[in-house]
Amino acid sequence: MQMIKRILAVIVGLFLTVSIASCSSERSGGGSGEGEAVDALIGISMPTKSLERWSRDGVELEETLQEMGYRTSLQFADNKVEQQISQIQNMINEDPAVLVVASIDGSALAPVLDQAASKDIEVIAYDRLIRDTEAVDYYATFDNYTVGKLQGEFIAQELDLENEAGPYNFEPFSGSPDDNNARYFFEGAWDALKPYIDEGKLVVPSGKLPESVDKWQSIGIQAWMAPAAQSEMENRLNSFYRDKKVEAVLAPNDALALGITQALEANGYSGEQWPVITGQDADQANVRNILAGKQAMTVWKDTRELGDQVAKMVDQIVRGEEVDVNDTETYDNGKKVVPSYLLEPVVITKDNVQEKLVDSGYYKASDLGL
Ligand code: BGC
Repeated sequence: MQMIKRILAVIVGLFLTVSIASCSSERSGGGSGEGEAVDALIGISMPTKSLERWSRDGVELEETLQEMGYRTSLQFADNKVEQQISQIQNMINEDPAVLVVASIDGSALAPVLDQAASKDIEVIAYDRLIRDTEAVDYYATFDNYTVGKLQGEFIAQELDLENEAGPYNFEPFSGSPDDNNARYFFEGAWDALKPYIDEGKLVVPSGKLPESVDKWQSIGIQAWMAPAAQSEMENRLNSFYRDKKVEAVLAPNDALALGITQALEANGYSGEQWPVITGQDADQANVRNILAGKQAMTVWKDTRELGDQVAKMVDQIVRGEEVDVNDTETYDNGKKVVPSYLLEPVVITKDNVQEKLVDSGYYKASDLGL
C-alpha cells in the first residue's frame, strides 16, 4: 500500500511539473524566453523608405520585436523633419513602452522627446545619436568613427600612400550636415588620410578640403542625396579636371558613391582610369558596382545585428533588467553621455562579397547577379 501511495505521489508530481512548465512556456509566448511575455507597444520611427538600408532596418526590427511578442508601430518619415516629429507625437499618444528613433535631424527632436520623457517612455536612439536632450536613454549603432577610418585606410592602402609619393588627385565628400554620424565618419577618414595630405601625397584640385575636421559640414551633402552628390562631382570635374584625372574619392556612403559614379561615367571615365571610390551600407546597386569594378569597397553594417541588439535592449528595458551597453564615454549629445552599444562594421570588397554577403544570407546570389 505504502508503495502504491509513493508511486501515485511521483505520478502526480510529474504531472504538476509538466503542466506548470507548459503553462509558463505559453505565457512567455515566444518572448525572450525568460519570464512572462509582456504586452507592450514599441514605436519605431525611421527617417525614410527611399534608402534601402532604412526600409530594411525598419522591417527587420519590427519583425524581430513581433516575434518576441511585442506590438509595434513603424513609421517612415520621407526624410522630412516635421513629418518625423508628428509621427513620433502620434506614437507618444498611443503610450508605447519604448520609442526607437533613427533621427533625420539629430538636433530637432528635443521638444517632442521631452513629452515622451514626461510619460516615462524610454527612448533608444537607433543608428544616429539624438542631440541636445536628456530624453534619450540609450544609443545603439555601429562604430561610426571606425566606418570612416576604414574608408580612409582603404584609400591609403589602395594608393599605397605609405610607399608612393603621388601626388594623387583626391576628392572628399561628407554626409548630411544635420546627421551626427556624418561628423564621425569624416573624422575617422580624416585621421587616416590627413598625414598624407600634409605630406603632399594627396592633393585636392577642387580645393574642397575643409580647413579642419570641425568644418566637415562645408563639404556635406544635405540629406545624403545621390543626385546632389552627382551634381557636386560633375561641377568639380568640369571646373578642375579638364587636364587631369581624379584618382580617389572619399564617398561616405553608398548613396553618395552612386551619384559620384554616375558623374564619372558621364565624364567618360572607364577601365584603368577608374578612381578608388569608397562607400558604406552594402546597398544592392553598390555591391553590383563593386563586382563590376566601379566601386572599390563599401563598409557593411549588418542591419540584422543592429536590429537584434536593439530588440534585446527594448526587452531589457521593458522587463526592468540591466540594459546591455559597451560604451559609456564616446557619445556626448550636448546634455549627457548616452550609454551606447557599438557594433563592428566590416569592409566589403569584391573578394569577400560571396563570403560575407551571400553566405550569411544578407543577399541572395541572384540579387547580385552571381
Ligand atoms: C547612416 C548610414 C546611412 C546614412 C544615410 C547615416 O546616419 O549611419 O548608414 O548611409 O545615414 O541614410
